[in-house]
Amino acid sequence: MSERRVPKWHDLAPLMKFEQPFGGRDARLKRAQTIWDLRELARKRTPKVAFDYTDGAADAEISLRRAREAFADIEFRPAILRNVAETNAATTVLGKQSRLPFGIAPTGFTRMMHTAGEIAGAHAAERAGIPFTLSTMGTTAIEDVAAATGPDARNWFQLYMWKDRDRSMALVERAAKADFDTLVVTVDVPVAGNRLRDARNGMTIPPSITLGGAVDALRRPWWWWDFLTTEPLSFASLDRWSGTVADLLDVMFDPTVGFDDLTWIRESWPGKVLAKGVQTVADAKRLADAGVDGIVLSNHGGRQLDRAPVPLHLLPEVVREVGDDLEIHLDTGITHGADIVAALALGARFTLVGRAYLYGLMAGGEAGVDRAIDILRSQVIRTMKLLGVRSIEELEPDHVRLLEGRR
Ligand SMILES: Cc1cc2nc3c(=O)[nH]c(=O)nc-3n(C[C@H](O)[C@H](O)[C@H](O)COP(=O)(O)O)c2cc1C
Repeated sequence: MSERRVPKWHDLAPLMKFEQPFGGRDARLKRAQTIWDLRELARKRTPKVAFDYTDGAADAEISLRRAREAFADIEFRPAILRNVAETNAATTVLGKQSRLPFGIAPTGFTRMMHTAGEIAGAHAAERAGIPFTLSTMGTTAIEDVAAATGPDARNWFQLYMWKDRDRSMALVERAAKADFDTLVVTVDVPVAGNRLRDARNGMTIPPSITLGGAVDALRRPWWWWDFLTTEPLSFASLDRWSGTVADLLDVMFDPTVGFDDLTWIRESWPGKVLAKGVQTVADAKRLADAGVDGIVLSNHGGRQLDRAPVPLHLLPEVVREVGDDLEIHLDTGITHGADIVAALALGARFTLVGRAYLYGLMAGGEAGVDRAIDILRSQVIRTMKLLGVRSIEELEPDHVRLLEGRR
């Protein structure tokens, strides 16, 4: 046995890579290895009201939990000994390229989570070569998103049909004029879901400072400083609003919206139309007949009907029934690139991410969104290589098994 020796400084020095104990934003983001790490950073840095609004879902949050569990419950079936030196995750979605098989989902009140808001999302999406969707409830005007992005950016606009149809029409016209190429019509909101966390937190728009909020503010001074010293919250589509979120949603959502409304939308929109929030095979078929270009299987991130169908479980049958007629996209519950790969293997053309991007935004503004996209990108590529595929087209249902008894 060789004798022990006392280590010398020159032995130790190359091993020591101490980082600054508190590091800056970039160091923090770099250390985040998963979307869940970004979520933890987001939770620490964002006031509870805004974090809960983002993180939460409706009622007992069962829809969201089940959607996430469904991804965790699949089993991959990798093909071995394939040459995967060159793997490319680019795909074609609604007639144009996306460098990655996911885009940014529409989210409301985004500047409340971080003042960089939609512009951060649109910039990061443009850099990554993926679509960005601006919500009707967004906090940046349609024209401002268009002005902040270059000619190669792909901006989509999400429409909530207002009770006042002329106002909806005016929005559609503004988005078309600003070169948004796709209209995402959200169809799962006859009324707002019951978001208990928001009700309990007394959330209002714009955020008001309650006693609890003031204590919270002391713990997150930078968020408040940033919030109070930048452009006040305003909406993409509403001139001025103050009140509770539930009141706002009630003004906006129209319980009378029907399939007929898709007809005038189809006629007045020059680009592609996606219907978002499809939750049964029967409705997928009706939408195929209504002539939309694609559907998003989604339960709105679990924020509407609790105990709603899990989009991943719905996917194989919808693909079988209408996969030749329109594009099938999927969202809800995606927190890992492997979730995206599983959905694509089961026949989805594309996916959207909501919270995964918002956790990044809350964790570090625009750089945080870049980090979220980077994490998902590297997870997608690694999963593809481990499955033995070089392109999205090579992914097949055989690569994934939905475990029996879990459905
Ligand atoms: C904070 C937040 C706000 C949202 N706002 C909208 C919205 O304004 N319009 C819409 O169609 N969907 C909205 N959604 C739903 C997303 O577009 C998407 O369907 C959902 O986030 C997907 O689930 P995920 O968060 O698990 O990725 C929102 C979701 C979140 C988390």
